[in-house]
Amino acid sequence: MALTPQWLDELRSRTMLSALIGRSIKVTKAGREYKACCPFHNEKTPSFTINDEKGFYHCFGCSAHGDAIRWMTDQRGLSFMDAVKELAAQAGMEVPAPDPRAAQQAEQRAGLHDVMQAAQDWFAAQLNSIEGAAARSYLERRGIHAQTVKDFGFGFAPDSKSALKAALAQFGDDMLVEAGLLIKVDDKAPYDRFRGRLMIPIRDPRGRVIAFGGRILGDGEPKYLNSPDTPLFDKGRTLYNLDKCSPASRSTGRVIVVEGYMDVIALAQAGFPDAVAPLGTALTEQQIEMLWRMTEKPLLCFDGDAAGQKAAMRAADRALPLLRPGHSLQFVTLPEGQDPDDLVKSSGSQAFKQLLDNSEPLVDRLWAAELVAQSLDTPEDRASLKQRLGQHISAISDGEIKRHYADAFRDRFDALFARKTAPSYPARTNPNFKRGSGAKWAKTVYQPTTSEARGISSKGSDLLMQGLLVNILLYPALIDGHREALMEIHPRNANQADLLSFILDSTLTKKSLDSAGLLTILEGQLYNVAQDLLRGDGKAFAFNRRSLSGEADDYTSLSKNMAEMIKLVKQRPALEQALDRATIKVSQELTEENYAEQQRLRSEKEAFDRRIVEMADRGLDI
Ligand code: UTP
Ligand code: MN
Repeated sequence: MALTPQWLDELRSRTMLSALIGRSIKVTKAGREYKACCPFHNEKTPSFTINDEKGFYHCFGCSAHGDAIRWMTDQRGLSFMDAVKELAAQAGMEVPAPDPRAAQQAEQRAGLHDVMQAAQDWFAAQLNSIEGAAARSYLERRGIHAQTVKDFGFGFAPDSKSALKAALAQFGDDMLVEAGLLIKVDDKAPYDRFRGRLMIPIRDPRGRVIAFGGRILGDGEPKYLNSPDTPLFDKGRTLYNLDKCSPASRSTGRVIVVEGYMDVIALAQAGFPDAVAPLGTALTEQQIEMLWRMTEKPLLCFDGDAAGQKAAMRAADRALPLLRPGHSLQFVTLPEGQDPDDLVKSSGSQAFKQLLDNSEPLVDRLWAAELVAQSLDTPEDRASLKQRLGQHISAISDGEIKRHYADAFRDRFDALFARKTAPSYPARTNPNFKRGSGAKWAKTVYQPTTSEARGISSKGSDLLMQGLLVNILLYPALIDGHREALMEIHPRNANQADLLSFILDSTLTKKSLDSAGLLTILEGQLYNVAQDLLRGDGKAFAFNRRSLSGEADDYTSLSKNMAEMIKLVKQRPALEQALDRATIKVSQELTEENYAEQQRLRSEKEAFDRRIVEMADRGLDI
């Protein structure tokens, strides 16, 4: 017999929905119905109603809707069959087995559950025995509290090939092999799989032990030995700690995904009960779906090192085809070489919380990863970036989301590269602004700078570079003291760039050049560039003028001037970049806050340039 609609109706009618839901959230009676704050979205005033007569719940805020079974799957995170079983158990109904073979499998599984529970009890007992001393001190060394040891059911497998086999002999070897607890090779006698390891039970969504991870005490290979897939355990469909995380996530509204068992456990101990981990593999589609049943945007934590970032991209790739409206992934990047366990130990819960609060949406993670993946110097590089972004877009199957990703990437791309053609105000060419979203702000933000401001701006930065070059031409002896800093300077003007690198090269081999000596080794074009500088604007800075007219400054103050010039020359591009970044941000999200920041940087840059112009007249007393 299978699950018939009649049987399911009977199950629903024997379940008091308000009582079932009332076990998880606070419900209050309102007329013939019950009301509650919706557990499927964040709200302060209740718009979630429960109708016992109809056997349905409905949320007027987020449209969540369903019956008792749906409640168990969507809110508790159970599979359909598990939901039915649990409701049936509560209603005192027998679940009909679909067919004889399934009945047999169910019986076998029931038997395996008993085996696993017996193994769990035995491992836990071994941890408390004399033999478990090393494992107990290992746990202590790792700072795991007694309560945590209990909560997570830590155990110990003694270093023996037959201890478990003997202790659980009543189940028979075949069943112990089937449960993954014994290893059987060819016709030889089966032996214990887990030996001399700290045992971590892996539980299903209903809290039953279905597998184990065994950690070596200290160093050695493999670090973790895990149960093989069995009729109870499918690695790709299991998330470690889901049974505890699921209810916890209902009150935190959050799910944290980490890489290891010990991370989950350390986080729980540090006050983050809502964490899960896959079992040593990249997230599978099924695992992503399981996460989405608990929360719309699970927070994925990855190490900041190259391997961690690669893993983050793998998860992103996996998720793209599965995206549906509202559902996505958020990315948390941990300090390099630290897993969450290390982090809460070294820096505390607050530090981890801060990282969670700064998580990045999927769209940002993809963009950032592609932006740094390869150089963007040539047109070909840029085309390649566009192509890679295009590949992500085409991986998305939901049409609406696909369009939004295409828009987002195109806007960012244009905002970034428009800079090369319109230096001060890249986002003016951003197509986003023709479409009129936030048009009110757009008008103000993207008005071109006044010609006066532009004049000061370009004059300021050019003046500065010219001033520095003249300074170098006049005092080649100063170069050695500032060589490293000078090598990081790259004039935009190609002639000036050539001049600077020639001077830096030649002064490396010909020490103690004076200004006249330097001019004599400059040839052709470079000589002309140098002469132009000495005649032209480069004289603007007072200390350069003094020197040209024969008034000497002392070496120390000259060296200080050069350091100051270098500092300013370097500051200017940083300021420009900050402004560009802020402008891109405004182009992505036109908020008052982003706008204010962009305007602040814009006036800061103008003020900087104005100061340079003034300084040129007064000298470098800033
Ligand atoms: P980690 O090495 O990051 O685990 O591997 P961890 O939890 O931080 O371990 P500790 O802190 O050194 O004890 C992450 C996960 O990869 C799987 C396990 O599921 C582990 O939790 N893994 C790792 C294995 O299955 N086998 C291994 O040998 C290593
Ligand atoms: Mn670790």
